[in-house]
Amino acid sequence: MDKIQKIRRLKKEKDVVILAHYYVDGQVQALADYVGDSFALSKLAATVEHHNILFCGVRFMGESAKILNPEKTVIMPDITADCPMAHMVEIEKIKEVRQMFPDVAVVCYVNSTAEIKSYSDVCVTSSNAIQVVKKLPNKDIFFIPDNHLAQYVAKQVPEKHFIFNDGFCPIHKEITKQHIEDAKKKHPKALLLTHPECMQEVLEASDFIGSTSEIIDYASTSDCKEFLIATETGVFYELQQKNPEKIFYSVRDNQICPDMKKITVDNVLTALERFEPEVVMDAEMIEKANAPLVQMLELAK
Ligand code: 13P
Ligand code: SF4
Repeated sequence: MDKIQKIRRLKKEKDVVILAHYYVDGQVQALADYVGDSFALSKLAATVEHHNILFCGVRFMGESAKILNPEKTVIMPDITADCPMAHMVEIEKIKEVRQMFPDVAVVCYVNSTAEIKSYSDVCVTSSNAIQVVKKLPNKDIFFIPDNHLAQYVAKQVPEKHFIFNDGFCPIHKEITKQHIEDAKKKHPKALLLTHPECMQEVLEASDFIGSTSEIIDYASTSDCKEFLIATETGVFYELQQKNPEKIFYSVRDNQICPDMKKITVDNVLTALERFEPEVVMDAEMIEKANAPLVQMLELAK
């Protein structure tokens, strides 16, 4: 029996659903039950009927699945797969901002640790941040941890007062205006589709800005045949599956998240065999971090 057959048999026997983010390797996306962006995956995690979840992504994604389903067992192929941005705000800073702006809403990108979520009012993902922020009654918004997404949302919601934090995604931050200019010279007919974790100078040059699944939807419904993709190259798998006749280029070499790439077919199989490593969190943390996630699911409906 080959590895994929073993995975299929084990997940059925153990009542496991496999969720995967668009940034993991294409071979892993191919074996998952559902592949999606962060928002779709958190909605799925809140509704799947299976008793157990195997989350192919980075730590904050597995944690969110656990927070939304405390009674389920959530396992991850590699628990060390972590998002550096998820740690890029100090709890002390949140407390300080709350003191300075007593009516502030602390808006927390899901790319954050459970502890950071537990000090926040509402979570957002890149596909619902504008919608959620617009619906909040608060004028003052402290947007954590990502500075780039915050700047992007602030431009779309000028009626609010934003307090910015200085977190960033190291992979998206590496993409510069110069890379875009060079890529556009090489592929003048291509449209530029960009993730909002990129810097402002890159967003300004873009034809479309959206989450991973919004980028895939845009490319799939566009009449254009060539695209420059300014995000992690894991999305190329689904882009190519859905659009075999279209051409997708990265804007620079190495648009790769090393943590997402820690997930492999081999460690998916091992995790299913051993039923570990498990995402373990204490009940109090789960309860505190649950409220902002549930609030997001409500406001983003
Ligand atoms: P999406 O919300 O577009 O899925 O991307 C979030 C992300 O950076 C995952 O690392
Ligand atoms: Fe974090 Fe960036 Fe990797 Fe997404 S791509 S998991 S934001 S480091």
